[in-house]
Amino acid sequence: MWAVSFAWPLVVVLAGGGVGIACTETEYVYDTTEVDRPLFNQPADSLNGFLGLYSVADNKTSCGNCHADYQGKWAGTKHADAWETLENSGGAQDFCRGCHTVSELGNALEVAGGWNAVPDSTYHNVQCESCHGAGLTHLESVAAGNVIRPLASIAVDTIGTNGCAGCHEGTHHPFVEQWSESKHGYGGTHFLPPYGNRSPCNECHEGRTAMVAQFNSDGDYVEKADPDNFQPHTCAVCHNPHDATNEGQLRAELAQPSREQLCVKCHSREGHPEPGSATRRGPHAAQGLLVIDEEVGWIPPNFQYDTTKIVGSHGTTANPRLCASCHVYMFEVTDAATGDFLLQSVGHTFEAIQCLDAQGLPTAGPCPDDQRQFDGCAVSGCHGDAAAALAAFRTVRTRMNFLVDQLWTDTDDDAVLETTDGGVLPKVLAQAIAANNLNEINLYDNVLTPAEGAIWNAQLAYTHERTVWSGFSIDGQLSCTPTTTCNTQGGSNTAHKSSGEGVHNPFLLEALMLSSISYLQTYYNVSPPPMELAPQLTAPPGLRVR
Ligand code: HEC
Ligand code: HEC
Ligand code: HEC
Ligand code: HEC
Ligand code: HEC
Ligand code: HEC
Ligand code: HEC
Ligand code: HEC
Repeated sequence: MWAVSFAWPLVVVLAGGGVGIACTETEYVYDTTEVDRPLFNQPADSLNGFLGLYSVADNKTSCGNCHADYQGKWAGTKHADAWETLENSGGAQDFCRGCHTVSELGNALEVAGGWNAVPDSTYHNVQCESCHGAGLTHLESVAAGNVIRPLASIAVDTIGTNGCAGCHEGTHHPFVEQWSESKHGYGGTHFLPPYGNRSPCNECHEGRTAMVAQFNSDGDYVEKADPDNFQPHTCAVCHNPHDATNEGQLRAELAQPSREQLCVKCHSREGHPEPGSATRRGPHAAQGLLVIDEEVGWIPPNFQYDTTKIVGSHGTTANPRLCASCHVYMFEVTDAATGDFLLQSVGHTFEAIQCLDAQGLPTAGPCPDDQRQFDGCAVSGCHGDAAAALAAFRTVRTRMNFLVDQLWTDTDDDAVLETTDGGVLPKVLAQAIAANNLNEINLYDNVLTPAEGAIWNAQLAYTHERTVWSGFSIDGQLSCTPTTTCNTQGGSNTAHKSSGEGVHNPFLLEALMLSSISYLQTYYNVSPPPMELAPQLTAPPGLRVR
């Protein structure tokens, strides 16, 4: 027996395409052929109030009777075909079906509901109610003219009982498990205060603010009401729950190498030193800009490509999944001995060339090169196979190490740039100290010198074998901003930088480093005289220079 507290059924009264029920703020447009039918049918699972499909034949949800725009968009998503996919797979069994239908999975209901309570065809597919919860109360409230909003949740519950986590978990699709470990998930920390509630940091670092700032998505959901309910980059930050316009239901395009690309939207905070501001923090989320060569790097006056763009094939439409080719690489792991299925790795740790354990399962790094997953580099056909990609990777990394070492080698390994260290910068420092002109390498003042510009470029090019570049002090650097503490070794520059091991744009990085080094040698007249630093990295056919 099902109980409703208002006149049943609620019948659509059509008036020129509009409708006469209490829909005041939005105009709901109805299918005129539905004139004489009630707005929703008696729910099969009347106990929990899941309405399910209004018309199984048309895959039309009951919600779609009023929210026509959502119905239209949803119908284009894979969620709308989930039942058929399952049944056509040839492997459908009872336990599969709760995730491919409307049930308690994905919403706040804590007991079996929908398909899992009453297996009925109206519950086929992942419908609105999978995420928004049972709709009967909402419809009663609409009829009563006092709308109770059935809001979905964007939080990711790691025990897998609510939201996207309710279904996107387990060894066949461990999205939640992998995401949780990633820096976009609970493996990151900068979504919490102070950055999570500080503007503009939260526009990239906190999930809810990022949804609005980056993707102009201002829909309502459970976690929105409480300002202190800080969220990391949950599934719904990158994926649009309703819209399949972009592949994978992503909120922005993946393929276009521009600032509008999904990842570059955030991975683009500071690529080049701003004239007139301190460079103490160095590049910030610059890897995205490096991939597409957009406002990235300090351009020395002798830079020979000053009016051009240098983009390796990794950063062009020749690589249609762009960042995702390497950072969202999916692969299946089977037991080498028995051939048994172990895991479908779904790439949601967002790590490129991920570390693998002895069984081939993704694991947290660091690890030696030969324990990393290079297969993703080979799928596009650019690198013949994983071994060839690994060789190319080593070549680039060796080259980057060589180039940053020419600028500065931290001989005594103390993360302080000193006159006794190797490379060009220690000589510039010695000159500056002798001339009592310490500001020549002062990352705190607002004057950008060639030495500081070169440091910036090295901070784009450094590898994980030269992590000293991500944060170090400069001997004798005594002028600091009033708010920072100076010590006898000078203030250090902070670690906001990450390393792409040179992979993101080897040709641009090489060009920037070569011209930085030779410009410093000429500008400061430091010995040895300009060394021969011929470009060594050979551009592949995909290289775009414009
Ligand atoms: C009888 C028409 C009708 C049906 C059917 C209906 N809704 Fe609504 N819905 C409304 C109205 C009216 C509002 C309030 C709109 C407003 O205030 O702007 C609303 C609001 C919402 C909101 C909140 C939107 C916001 O801006 O805060 C959500 C979410 C929602 N409905 C989901 C659903 C779901 C899920 C279903 C199916 C279970 C459903 N609706 C079925 C009429 C309907
Ligand atoms: C825990 C929830 C859950 C269960 C249980 C589940 N699925 Fe799925 N299934 C999903 C999700 C989520 C996706 C989409 C994500 C993906 O493609 O990895 C999916 C995708 C699929 C796909 C399409 C993608 C593909 O891999 O080809 C098929 C087919 C499928 N499932 C079949 C099954 C079968 C057969 C079973 C039972 C043996 C089953 N599912 C059980 C959640 C589930
Ligand atoms: C896969 C889960 C999922 C499915 C399926 C889903 N939604 Fe949503 N919906 C969400 C989430 C999460 C939000 C909040 C984030 C956003 O707006 O993108 C939301 C937001 C909404 C809103 C609020 C928009 C606003 O402006 O405040 C409405 C209305 C809505 N959904 C209706 C529907 C209807 C109708 C359907 C089915 C045709 C549907 N949803 C299917 C998860 C889902
Ligand atoms: C009730 C279970 C369930 C819930 C809840 C759920 N999904 Fe899914 N999702 C599935 C299944 C099943 C598929 C595979 C459907 C198919 O391939 O036919 C899928 C597919 C997808 C896809 C693949 C789309 C594509 O084009 O390849 C994305 C992306 C996705 N879901 C995101 C989400 C997000 C984001 C949420 C939460 C807002 C969510 N899902 C909630 C079950 C669910
Ligand atoms: C930082 C952005 C980001 C976040 C956060 C994110 N994803 Fe994804 N997801 C992607 C990208 C990029 C792809 C690859 C799409 C492609 O290549 O078509 C993808 C692909 C998928 C797919 C489709 C897989 C397939 O078979 O094609 C599913 C399902 C999915 N994600 C679910 C989730 C779930 C569930 C969460 C939260 C636990 C999540 N994603 C969080 C960016 C993200
Ligand atoms: C909404 C903003 C946003 C989007 C979109 C986004 N990211 Fe991120 N990403 C971040 C933030 C912020 C962090 C750092 C989080 C922290 O450390 O707390 C991060 C961290 C990372 C890291 C780890 C960096 C490190 O230092 O270990 C990688 C790799 C990464 N993102 C890749 C991607 C890829 C690939 C995409 C596109 C599929 C993407 N991101 C989309 C904001 C974003
Ligand atoms: C335009 C987007 C964007 C804005 C705005 C932004 N960040 Fe970031 N930030 C990122 C991304 C993306 C990463 C991670 C990728 C990387 O390090 O290359 C990051 C990394 C960081 C890190 C290093 C995190 C780690 O795990 O090592 C810190 C600290 C940080 N940001 C602080 C801040 C602060 C403080 C602000 C505000 C003053 C801010 N960010 C504003 C995008 C942004
Ligand atoms: C050709 C493969 C490839 C592509 C394409 C690619 N990356 Fe990377 N990325 C890498 C490699 C390799 C690393 C170094 C990983 C390591 O050392 O563990 C890396 C590192 C990073 C890091 C730093 C991670 C850390 O642990 O410090 C960020 C952030 C990042 N990439 C963002 C992006 C973004 C954003 C895009 C797209 C605009 C992109 N990458 C495109 C291969 C790629």
